[in-house]
Amino acid sequence: SAEEIRLKALPKAEVHLHLEGCFEAALIAQWAYTEGVALPRPQQDLFKFSGLADFLGFLDLACGLARTQDRLVELSYGLSQRLAANGTGYADVIFNPTHWHAWHGRLGAMLDAIDAGFTAAEQDGLPGVGLCVSLLRTQSADAAIELVDTLTTLRHPRVVALSVDGNEATAGRTGPRFAEAFRKAGSAGLRRTVHAGESSGPEGVWDAVDLLGADRIDHGVRATEDPALVQMLADRQIPLGVCPTSNLVLGVYPSIEVHPIDRLRQAGVRVSVNTDDPALLGASLVGEYALCRQAFGWTDEVTRAVARTSIEASFASADVKAGLL
Ligand code: ADE
Ligand code: ZN
Repeated sequence: SAEEIRLKALPKAEVHLHLEGCFEAALIAQWAYTEGVALPRPQQDLFKFSGLADFLGFLDLACGLARTQDRLVELSYGLSQRLAANGTGYADVIFNPTHWHAWHGRLGAMLDAIDAGFTAAEQDGLPGVGLCVSLLRTQSADAAIELVDTLTTLRHPRVVALSVDGNEATAGRTGPRFAEAFRKAGSAGLRRTVHAGESSGPEGVWDAVDLLGADRIDHGVRATEDPALVQMLADRQIPLGVCPTSNLVLGVYPSIEVHPIDRLRQAGVRVSVNTDDPALLGASLVGEYALCRQAFGWTDEVTRAVARTSIEASFASADVKAGLL
């Protein structure tokens, strides 16, 4: 449609997007067949998830199939093609090593393989990508520090940030456990982004800021349950990487009409729209903008302001940002 063409042309970045969320169903089915691995559901129902826990379990299965360098290159290159198809100029991509069983203990080789796909894509004129290497919420404090030490030793040029994702609902209040790892990451020059306020309430967002030094919050939408927190996010201009369709599919909110993204925006919080796990959750970046415009009556001016926030909130270099703005 004409609207989609205009939204594709909108200068924008994506700041909340998981490499683990970019598998096509046909690709998983093909790899599972080759490996002799049984899928939990027929291919046409493969991405029908009952909630976040079911979804995260599925990531272990899908990522476990990506055993070879070629498969990682195919995935990362395909992610860049997806960015280009939506007119996205740059993306911060979250990558969580815990899901990729075949690569455990070989983080350097794994980063090189992912990087090879992104580098080939950039050479073909596709958008640039920075990697946010992610802890899983259920990991130990020691495992978290070990990951940061490994990243500090590797100093891989593709890596821009430390992240933490996964399920907070079963883990209790986990901020304190990761404080030391995030402090070390900050000292080593990494940026910091934290999943919070999705499977946790406002307390998870407070901890992300107070204990983990988050430069940005992934989701953060449940901050709306605490007015003092909304005020703090607005005062300190801490951006949220919001994913409306993801929140609907994974059951955080029952409908887009009650989704808080626009209330947060109107309260002065810096919000961007993102796809989270586009292939698995059936989202596209153009579609997310269209959804918000339709549900909240966003004008062209509001749409452009949100898109500008996505670029400013990204961990792209100053040069890349200037080229996009
Ligand atoms: N990993 C991939 N997508 C996620 C989400 N929406 N929440 C937590 N962890 C994730
Ligand atoms: Zn996410």
